[in-house]
Amino acid sequence: MMRPMFEDDLDAVMDVELRAYPFPWTRGIFLDCLHAGYPGRVLLLDGVIAGYGMLSLAADEAHVLNVCVDPQVQSRGHGRQLLRELVRLARVRGAVRVFLEVRPSNTSAIALYHSEGFNEIGRRPRYYPAQSGREDALVMAMELVDDDITTMPPL
Ligand SMILES: CC(C)(COP(=O)(O)OP(=O)(O)OC[C@H]1O[C@@H](n2cnc3c(N)ncnc32)[C@H](O)[C@@H]1OP(=O)(O)O)[C@@H](O)C(=O)NCCC(=O)NCCS
Repeated sequence: MMRPMFEDDLDAVMDVELRAYPFPWTRGIFLDCLHAGYPGRVLLLDGVIAGYGMLSLAADEAHVLNVCVDPQVQSRGHGRQLLRELVRLARVRGAVRVFLEVRPSNTSAIALYHSEGFNEIGRRPRYYPAQSGREDALVMAMELVDDDITTMPPL
């Protein structure tokens, strides 16, 4: 079951965040996102938060800021479900493309994004903190074109 993320969820969200990432977000970052009105989603398994995602929307562009599944229940399709929900939200709120950044070392996340239709469009050098200095970010994007555009007859 998926529902919007609220401030009251942040203890449970942080519990997952701290176990899922070597360089986790702080609670303050989640709070800033919620206060900015960004749509967050939590995924509940047996009433417990097992994953979440955060999207930002500006003009006609959306950005997947975080998508995360509890390490105890990863590789069961929950990440894909969350990502699809964020992309669906972007689409219904009028975005024409969705961006995200990912560490080049995060091969499972990259595989997920590729399989959902994201393409690599560039790199941000030294974007992330890493054990030995900094790590680049891979920038990925997906166009949310309407089906009728792709099926228009040639001129
Ligand atoms: C990335 C993440 C959200 C994926 O969620 P998940 O529930 O584990 O993934 P899913 O079960 O939905 O799998 C989706 C795809 O991811 C890839 N994947 C998932 N687990 C994988 C693994 N252990 N090894 C390799 N690829 C894997 C596969 O391509 C998979 O597709 P498939 O099942 O058709 O092979 C999750 O691993 C996670 O939270 N990681 C830590 C936080 C993080 O790095 N988030 C992304 C930041 S950009």
